[in-house]
Amino acid sequence: MESLNNKVAFVTGGSRGIGKEIVRKLASEGAAVAFTYNNSEEIANILAKELSTPNVKVIAIKADNGDAQSIASAIKKAYESFGRLDILVNNAGIAVLETLPNITLDDFDRTIAVNVKGVFVAMQTGAELMSEGGRIINIGSTAADKNGFPGTSIYAMSKAAVAALTRGVARDLGPRGITVNTIQPGPIATDMNPENSDFANMLKTTMALGHYGTTADISELVAFLASPASKFITGTSINIDGGLSS
Ligand SMILES: NC(=O)c1ccc[n+]([C@@H]2O[C@H](COP(=O)([O-])OP(=O)(O)OC[C@H]3O[C@@H](n4cnc5c(N)ncnc54)[C@H](OP(=O)(O)O)[C@@H]3O)[C@@H](O)[C@H]2O)c1
Repeated sequence: MESLNNKVAFVTGGSRGIGKEIVRKLASEGAAVAFTYNNSEEIANILAKELSTPNVKVIAIKADNGDAQSIASAIKKAYESFGRLDILVNNAGIAVLETLPNITLDDFDRTIAVNVKGVFVAMQTGAELMSEGGRIINIGSTAADKNGFPGTSIYAMSKAAVAALTRGVARDLGPRGITVNTIQPGPIATDMNPENSDFANMLKTTMALGHYGTTADISELVAFLASPASKFITGTSINIDGGLSS
């Protein structure tokens, strides 16, 4: 039995990497899914087609997470298509990895716009439409708590903001039975963080398990947090990092 039958999910940044696997997992659990993409239109449309079945519909919507209007209207469009919203996953994110002298104000503004403002707008718009007992799951990063090496300041700042927003919004939505949590991945093999590079090899030496995680490691935790089994977990950040922070 699929655990998310009759549920509707909205996932940001579902065209590649972690988000793509989250879309796949939620659809496989029976949820109808609307997901956003920004640049990867072709991949997004192929994924939506591949995952749609007579019982489970998956749709791709173009929406720049850094554009408040764009993300809000994508959520409203998904709601009009499916008639309800139960699960919101804020996954879209960018990582500008530069040391202090090399960070431009454009880098700073874009990081805040995509990684923080987009998450806030999605939560505000999504919460208005969300059913009682809904789920908001934000994808943060272990960088929120520990930078570990140079070049991570503004990325870590944005993910710390996501963790703080999560705690606050969990308090605001608790009376409606909506839970709000952040998943903080450590190194996961994606385009953003390929597992075969000098940087990756250095990182592996700092992890208890000594290897990168997979996108499925994250999507399994998303599915758990989206399920009824997680109903007493809210306002928290959960590390899933192969022991990077241990
Ligand atoms: N990989 C890791 O090691 C790791 C670790 C900790 C946290 N995370 C977090 O996990 C999330 C996903 O990361 P990933 O590794 O899967 O990254 P990725 O491989 O670079 O994929 C990023 C996804 O987000 C979308 N996206 C990026 N900017 C967007 C925007 N402005 N509007 C809409 N969609 C946008 C991309 O869509 P398009 O291609 O269509 O633009 C793509 O689907 C991010 O929030 C990241 O910070 C990743």
